[in-house]
Amino acid sequence: MDVRALLYSPDVTGDLLFFVAEDGIAECKWPHAAVQTLCEAQGFAGKLGETAVCTYVEEETANLRKVVVGGLGKAAELCLEKLRKATGNALKQAEKHKVETLTMLPWDLNLLPLDAVVRAVVEAALLNSYRFDRYLGESKEQSLKSLQISYASQQEVDVMRGLKLGQTLGHATNMARDLVNEPANSMTPAQLAEEAIKAGETFGFAVEVMERDAIEELGMTAFLEVGKASANSPRFIVMRHLGKPEEPEQILGLVGKGITFDSGGLSIKPAQGMGGMKFDMGGAASVIGAMSAIAAENLHLNVVAVVAACENLISGTGYRPGDIIGSMAGKTILIESTDAEGRLTLADAAHYVVTKERASTVVDVATLTGAAIVALGTVTTGVITNDQGLYERLQAASDQSGERVWQLPSFPEYREQNKTHQADLKNTGGREAGTITGGLFIEAFVEEKPWIHLDIAGTCFAAKDREYLREGATGVGVRLLYHFAESLI
Ligand code: BES
Ligand code: MN
Ligand code: ZN
Repeated sequence: MDVRALLYSPDVTGDLLFFVAEDGIAECKWPHAAVQTLCEAQGFAGKLGETAVCTYVEEETANLRKVVVGGLGKAAELCLEKLRKATGNALKQAEKHKVETLTMLPWDLNLLPLDAVVRAVVEAALLNSYRFDRYLGESKEQSLKSLQISYASQQEVDVMRGLKLGQTLGHATNMARDLVNEPANSMTPAQLAEEAIKAGETFGFAVEVMERDAIEELGMTAFLEVGKASANSPRFIVMRHLGKPEEPEQILGLVGKGITFDSGGLSIKPAQGMGGMKFDMGGAASVIGAMSAIAAENLHLNVVAVVAACENLISGTGYRPGDIIGSMAGKTILIESTDAEGRLTLADAAHYVVTKERASTVVDVATLTGAAIVALGTVTTGVITNDQGLYERLQAASDQSGERVWQLPSFPEYREQNKTHQADLKNTGGREAGTITGGLFIEAFVEEKPWIHLDIAGTCFAAKDREYLREGATGVGVRLLYHFAESLI
């Protein structure tokens, strides 16, 4: 879908998009008196997510004109995420009514900054029009081809800024969704590395890919153990954006879980739902998408993102429960479950980004635990950190992106659960507080750097269409990490 900005003139033609707040119905400047009458006749009240579609005859041209009206809820309670949801609902209605081009009337609600308003509408439009249809013999064509955001001349600077960033973030998020939706037979570790290289070429960041020998040389034995059972060999992907060379000691390290398929290994997963484990590289997709947006906007900071990509399969060459393995950090790990593989790969990746790339802050993103879904469901990403300041930044970023986060405690008692008499650590902390102990396992490998962990097991994909999202990968993390990075500048 094409989204553009357009200087408003009263003789703009075609179908219109108009947002109205619940308490603004009486005072607002309706596009036409007939629209207000028709909306009121339908009982339209401007509630959040409510929509109305009205058709009236344009006096001058005698053409029929459709107006899609989207409710915003109470004006004072409006936030960017509500606007995204209202946009998603309105555009779905427009699609149902076979609208092809929609012009959004100039925004005159001053409760939110205009550039952020435009960004949110553009994001919602791009995310809403996303389809994963490349494997369909016949893909369904969408009627809605173009959204024009019209503005008054004094709004131009803000509108253009919002449009540009909204497009960057919308496209980067959709790219991440493509990576996640792609099945594991095509999205192998090697393919994921290829996609990172492509993204680097498109958006302008450097990519280095290491194969087994180089990974072995670095001593990433925990990572290699996880991938040992698969014929698809592992890749270690390093992406660099050096946007602030004058401060080389300030480096944001991003680490994404890149398990291209998680069968559970010998600690095999139940057959039901195993297919969903192609989403187990959602964290990798988040960091590739975030790097793309960060590079496209040329943010003034240094970011290095890493992905330890491999496949957790079952074969005669795989690792076993009871094994004691090594790690790049030199710590030994007792394998209690071959299904707790993500933390093993993340441990080496996080240790690498701190020691070899000299990251001064570490963010890891992972579909790490089923327990995160039990605790927080599919609307909220679970967070663990050793630095409260980082969580506050993340929360501010979440206000910008609309991706909900919630902190879980990291009290010292929980670290005991990852201990064993047989090795320095074990890879499961038992049934209790699984999301916390999973996160704290990774913490043990970041050399006490400020670190924050995002468990996206619940938020990485949607079981069905919702608001401005479609069934399948959500691209969670891309926009969140972008705003988080921006907050460090
Ligand atoms: N990739 C899974 C976590 C997951 C489960 C994500 C369901 C999305 C949906 C992860 O590798 C895993 O298997 N975790 C185990 C950890 C346990 C063995 C300590 C889990 O959550 O059961
Ligand atoms: Mn697993
Ligand atoms: Zn996994």
